[in-house]
Amino acid sequence: MINDIPTLDDVRVDNKSIVMRIDINAPIVDSKILDFTRFESHIPTIKELEDAKLVLLAHQSRPGRKDFTTLEEHAKVLSKLLGKEVEYLDEIFSSRVQEKIKNMKNGEIILLENVRFYSEEQLERTPEEHAESHLVKKLKKYFDIFVNDAFSSSHRSHASIVGFVPVLPSVVGRLVEKEVAALNVALKSDGRKLFILGGAKMKDPVKVMKNVLENGIAEKVALTGVLANYFLKLKGFDIGKENEKVVEENKEGLKDEEMKKLFEKYREKIVLPVDLGVEKEGKRIDVTLEKFKGEVIKDIGIETAKLYAELAKEYDVVVVKGVAGVFEDQKFAIGTHEILKGVTKSKFSIVGGGHAASAAELFGLSNKIGYISTAGGACISYLSGEKLPAIEAIKDYWKKKWNVVLRNNSARS
Ligand code: 3PG
Repeated sequence: MINDIPTLDDVRVDNKSIVMRIDINAPIVDSKILDFTRFESHIPTIKELEDAKLVLLAHQSRPGRKDFTTLEEHAKVLSKLLGKEVEYLDEIFSSRVQEKIKNMKNGEIILLENVRFYSEEQLERTPEEHAESHLVKKLKKYFDIFVNDAFSSSHRSHASIVGFVPVLPSVVGRLVEKEVAALNVALKSDGRKLFILGGAKMKDPVKVMKNVLENGIAEKVALTGVLANYFLKLKGFDIGKENEKVVEENKEGLKDEEMKKLFEKYREKIVLPVDLGVEKEGKRIDVTLEKFKGEVIKDIGIETAKLYAELAKEYDVVVVKGVAGVFEDQKFAIGTHEILKGVTKSKFSIVGGGHAASAAELFGLSNKIGYISTAGGACISYLSGEKLPAIEAIKDYWKKKWNVVLRNNSARS
């Protein structure tokens, strides 16, 4: 158990038939998978289930997108990482799939087709509603246990994520355990905490900022990226027309009045840039706020980067979500790079999934960071204090049903 969430420690898995949701949604260009991080993160859980019959469910991208594709390549990557075959089936619950699952032997692993090829998968429904989906109704009879190892999809209430929970004893896998434990350090541990929030979009980091300030979790919140520019503007600083346009485009419904109030209430805790990395005639220049003349802001300034990096060293826990600037362009990577270097000196650093995680990888700092989340949206939800439906369902059903059922049969011991 981790925080009342049942884990693999709470069920007997040998010789069992297990259906496990994983998240190997990855960037794909020209049919090539570019990042294997999520694949690697599931390996410990999959290995732990080596004496079971294991069927994996996963998605890739969203319908309509260019990288919305089959999982054939994904199965090859998993096979390579595991050193054993993961058989890919190009269907989800056809009679052929059912026949295959019925005849599986212990130690065999099958990866079914992209679950988002099934039209009901992405409906946001309750576990009980999804338990009535074709996917769950057709497959449930072949399994003893459902495992959710897809932390990064646990903010979704989709069929393959919550639908098996009411009908099969369900627990979380080792990756979910690790993510929850690390993110709980960010939210619940005793030490002094600094959150460095940035990126291009603003609604998500604002949700996190509100949670950690309003609940006294963060001692300080240092802002970077477009969010920092927005707060500079709210403070009365003229960020210039070009940057204002970017702010307006990325506000996603945030209300100036509300944000001003938030700033006023927590101004002692919110740290803003003292200089900016701007682009002038194709070059980077660093200007103090006093000398800024409305140029296009592409990074926090070098002084700010040093300041944030120094600040990070003072804290027990530092959480970084979002990048400080356009880090893909080397000239404007300084802010993100300095911050990530700085946070490696804190007692425990956590980097949220997405661009900041990619930047840590690019700068060769990944192995110096305390924990890098595999999740983007789910990480934001968790850090915002929201409950993740997929994890809540497992917790609730364990308490009200599976704990009792398993105590009385052999699935547990
Ligand atoms: C992610 O990449 O954040 C997860 O795989 C969830 O994907 P989604 O946002 O398309 O549901």
